[in-house]
Amino acid sequence: MLSLQQVGKSYSADVVAVDEISLDVARGELLTLIGPSGCGKTTVLRMINRLIEPTSGKIFVHGREIREWDPIELRRSIGYVIQQVGLFPHLTVEQNIAYVLRITGMSVKKRQARAAELISLIGLDKFHLNRYPAELSGGQAQRVGFARALASDPDVILMDEPFGALDQITRLQLQDELLRIQQQLKKTIVFVTHDIQEAMKMGDKIALMRSGSLVQLGRPVDFFNCPADEFVTDFIGGSDFFRLLELIPVHQVMEEASLKKTPGATLTRDMTLAEAMRLLFRQNKQQIYVTDCDGKVTGLLSMDIIRRAAAAGSGCTEE
Ligand SMILES: Nc1ncnc2c1ncn2[C@@H]1O[C@H](COP(=O)(O)OP(=O)(O)OP(=O)(O)O)[C@@H](O)[C@H]1O
Ligand SMILES: [Mg+2]
Repeated sequence: MLSLQQVGKSYSADVVAVDEISLDVARGELLTLIGPSGCGKTTVLRMINRLIEPTSGKIFVHGREIREWDPIELRRSIGYVIQQVGLFPHLTVEQNIAYVLRITGMSVKKRQARAAELISLIGLDKFHLNRYPAELSGGQAQRVGFARALASDPDVILMDEPFGALDQITRLQLQDELLRIQQQLKKTIVFVTHDIQEAMKMGDKIALMRSGSLVQLGRPVDFFNCPADEFVTDFIGGSDFFRLLELIPVHQVMEEASLKKTPGATLTRDMTLAEAMRLLFRQNKQQIYVTDCDGKVTGLLSMDIIRRAAAAGSGCTEE
């Protein structure tokens, strides 16, 4: 779906923002991109939607090099969400959400219907459609920014620290909502964050960058079991079992399972393993079923499964 092949960006001989990065994001996958300030995360995102031209390498969206795309068609296929949200202050929420659709010539009626559909998807009441951005909270504005990015139904969505400016509670709420929407829509997402907890919770895979280079690309558990070097271990704050329990969500390690009837106590897929273990002990159970956001059983977790996932060197993916 999205492929970067030795993509680099230099501003001068000694300012190399991104140094020959190669990575693939599969259809429906959410990749979190993390690393210290100034390591090149935003530059990577902005090269994907051609706001910045790479100085080397190639980027493919849907198997087609981005330079071969019509720029307008490319922007429509790629949603972009940023920390500052960037809503137009003089337009209502509805007009903001439907902005791209207006440019593409969609009728007023269809635009209104699409905006109404999206506002309920992102969990806001319809009356917000007539408000102006200044009348929204930070979390609401960020939701509207996401709805706007979804308006033209792009396959790829780029998110640059979308929840970075929000308080912790709103941030956790928006993370859960994004995961819920992602389960439904299965977009291909690159999500930049500073926060390792967020990267581990949100990412099917994580790409860790340092000084313009890709240090490690893999599943969250790989960063514990097969860290590429000491920088990786330092960055995730230690690679011991307890740190893993704190950071890794249930769905990353659970075994797939399905049940027609929901059994009594269940875990939810986005809980951390630490929370899951507490529940296992409290319920005095060997294993416990996991439900997705609709309450459907999709997995099973036990101490054995956790132990296997946390075994050093187990199941490292070669990238
Ligand atoms: N227009 C520019 N001219 C020269 N250098 C630039 C330019 N834009 C970015 N850089 C440099 O490129 C590097 C990568 O910047 P980038 O914005 O991609 O970092 P980042 O990882 O997104 O950082 P942050 O986490 O702080 O947002 C930085 O060292 C930055 O100073
Ligand atoms: Mg940045």
